Amino acid sequence: MKCKTAVSHLTDDDLVIRGEKLSSLVAEASFTDAVFLILSGRKPAAKESRLFASILTSIIDHGTGTASALTSRFVASTGNALNASVAAGVLALGEYHGGAIETAMRQLADVKDAKAFVAEALKEKRRIMGFGHKVYKDEDPRVTQLYGIAEEVGYESPYLTLARDIERELAVQKGKKLVLNIDGFIAAALLGMGFPPEVGKGVFIIGRVPGLVAHAVEERQREKPVRRLDEADIEYDGK
Ligand SMILES: CC(C)(COP(=O)(O)OP(=O)(O)OC[C@H]1O[C@@H](n2cnc3c(N)ncnc32)[C@H](O)[C@@H]1OP(=O)(O)O)[C@@H](O)C(=O)NCCC(=O)NCCS
Repeated sequence: MKCKTAVSHLTDDDLVIRGEKLSSLVAEASFTDAVFLILSGRKPAAKESRLFASILTSIIDHGTGTASALTSRFVASTGNALNASVAAGVLALGEYHGGAIETAMRQLADVKDAKAFVAEALKEKRRIMGFGHKVYKDEDPRVTQLYGIAEEVGYESPYLTLARDIERELAVQKGKKLVLNIDGFIAAALLGMGFPPEVGKGVFIIGRVPGLVAHAVEERQREKPVRRLDEADIEYDGK
């Protein structure tokens, strides 16, 4: 079997990842810089390094109530191995939870004019990925902080400006605020850094897996086996 790859290869005494020796990365690079390298094919500039690290930190967890954390806990509660519990949480990610980055990147990359883009989406009753949130109705605090970090380090990208323009247009045209959410910010930042849309969901998975591991481990450590929805929370409306 032949396999052609530009990701990595083993030499006699080292591993080379995207042209960089693993031994050098171990000595000099942070884990998040190494993630940036292996996904994008180049090392991050200092500004990108700081913002990318903060992005990954911002998505490490978002509470026990999220679909992915709950799924990991449910699967752990039935006596499954850690890898099954974590994989189940990853499988719970979807377009409406953690999985909007790839589509948001494709949408943002195509926008010529924010006003016209929002008008067309609303007319066609299409959801604009990266906007709106179940909990945050006025501002996603993670996004506010990440914009602050981008400003602090002097990281600029036309996509970060465009994302705010779309948020503003949505409020005007929809007559209701649909906040720029964390997926939308990440999509805009990754586009500016030159990442391809295909890695969008991967970045979210990389950031969220530590949280899912923590939830699954804690479930096994301190809860009694087998979670079950309380019958009082189930409303039967069948025949
Ligand atoms: C995240 C999300 C599911 C939250 O939904 P919600 O707060 O329950 O909002 P609802 O689904 O009740 O929608 C409320 C209204 O806003 C509209 N709306 C919500 N998000 C929208 C979006 N991203 N683009 C356009 N319209 C949107 C809905 O169509 C609905 O309109 P209507 O009242 O005319 O029917 C939703 O905003 C969404 O689908 N966003 C896009 C996907 C995304 O970015 N996911 C990542 C989340 S971190």
